[in-house]
Amino acid sequence: MLTFVQSAFRKRRFTVTWLLTAVALVSSATGIAQDKSASGPIAVCVECHGNDGLGYKAGIPHLNGQPIPLLTSMLNAYREGKRPTKVKFHKDIPAADVGALAKHYAEQKAQRPKSATKPDLVARGEPLYANRCADCHVDSGRDSDKEAPLMAGQDVDYLVAQTLAFKSGERKFPYLMDKAYKDLSDDDLTAIAHYFASQDQVASQQGRKRRR
Ligand code: HEC
Ligand code: HEC
Repeated sequence: MLTFVQSAFRKRRFTVTWLLTAVALVSSATGIAQDKSASGPIAVCVECHGNDGLGYKAGIPHLNGQPIPLLTSMLNAYREGKRPTKVKFHKDIPAADVGALAKHYAEQKAQRPKSATKPDLVARGEPLYANRCADCHVDSGRDSDKEAPLMAGQDVDYLVAQTLAFKSGERKFPYLMDKAYKDLSDDDLTAIAHYFASQDQVASQQGRKRRR
């Protein structure tokens, strides 16, 4: 019986590989296997952000590797009502826990699962990114200057929503980012979001050499 199954599998190896790829794609679009082990203040966050900082479904940002000062200012903005949020937990974070939460997620090094980005949008977004956003969201969003968040490999649905939220006024522009947005359409901004989301979290060797 086992031999029969094995040979059936060998014959169908291509189909099986293809099926596994399809399953992997589907599961990355709908959710990922998530590490929800946790204790302490992080316990209320893992349902959505995991212990490893990976957003478990479309629309939830990956937090892993963001700099501590940035995570701290994001959490304080939520607590103080300076940044809108759909998530009640964000507003209820005790001030005393902010430091530990920021440190925990900053130290996580998990591989971000790639979102399904559209190649035509990625191509349209690349030169717009280079002209408008690269000064602060450095190295295709893998690095940061002027306290900008890391964007490479971020969830695409989250990024599209947040990119447009600055334009609509829902989120307040940080210093000088409004200038970078001047005259960009919603479609331009969506394209830049796809460009960021499509980027590898870690630069290729070639990419590293190109860096200043
Ligand atoms: C019910 C799901 C859920 C829970 C629980 C949750 N979050 Fe979130 N988180 C989200 C979503 C969705 C967003 C996207 C923006 C929004 O609506 O605020 C987000 C955004 C964030 C951001 C902003 C990231 C960025 O790139 O700007 C931070 C930081 C964050 N969450 C930290 C936490 C921490 C720390 C906890 C635990 C105290 C937590 N979240 C609990 C769903 C959740
Ligand atoms: C002058 C520096 C600067 C430039 C230029 C800039 N940004 Fe930003 N960006 C920032 C800073 C700082 C933040 C953090 C704001 C905050 O936490 O509220 C940010 C945050 C963001 C976020 C939110 C990410 C998240 O995880 O919450 C998006 C989306 C974004 N920028 C898109 C863009 C796009 C698109 C461009 C180019 C058109 C751009 N930025 C140009 C500095 C900049």
